[in-house]
Amino acid sequence: MQSSNSQSISQRLKAMVDSDRQSHSAARNTAAKNTGAKAPLNVDYQQLSQQLLGLINGEKDRVANLANCSALLWQELSSINWVGFYLLKRNKLVLGPFQGKPACSRIELGAGVCGTAAQMLKTIIVADVHQFPGHIACDLASKSEIVLPIINEGKLLGVLDIDSPETDRFDHHDQQGLELIIQTLLPHL
Ligand code: SME
Repeated sequence: MQSSNSQSISQRLKAMVDSDRQSHSAARNTAAKNTGAKAPLNVDYQQLSQQLLGLINGEKDRVANLANCSALLWQELSSINWVGFYLLKRNKLVLGPFQGKPACSRIELGAGVCGTAAQMLKTIIVADVHQFPGHIACDLASKSEIVLPIINEGKLLGVLDIDSPETDRFDHHDQQGLELIIQTLLPHL
């Protein structure tokens, strides 16, 4: 039972990774780079949340589920250069599972975009990170950012942080979609 469940999840993950190698995400990014145009950003977050559920359902380990969530978002979202989690530990945000360049390990509450979103318990969309006072630059390529708090029964667990090398990459559609992703994730943390 356990092994057939694991097998089906790994098969699904492999299928998604394989298809991505030749498909839309890569093609969109390449097209955008070649033409200088913005990549189409209308990702289907409902579908993404179903894919996520397929990966995390039946798995109780928080790190495993956060890791697969960051890998899925990395694979499916266009024009991003970092995606991952910071988890609240002893009143600080500590780096969790992520994809992208190495990042700062700890962020104080109230510091940077992540610490501000965590303190305010609100999603923050930053169209131009250079205009955000106190922005913490982990990857110099980052131009815009979205940070969403992860809250369970009123308690802050951490944040989901996504960076883009494009200015003004994230909008309300992404906010709503990523909030759905977090709601899908929460019972599995
Ligand atoms: N830019 C974030 C820091 C984390 S990295 O982007 C991965 C911030 O200002 O909080």
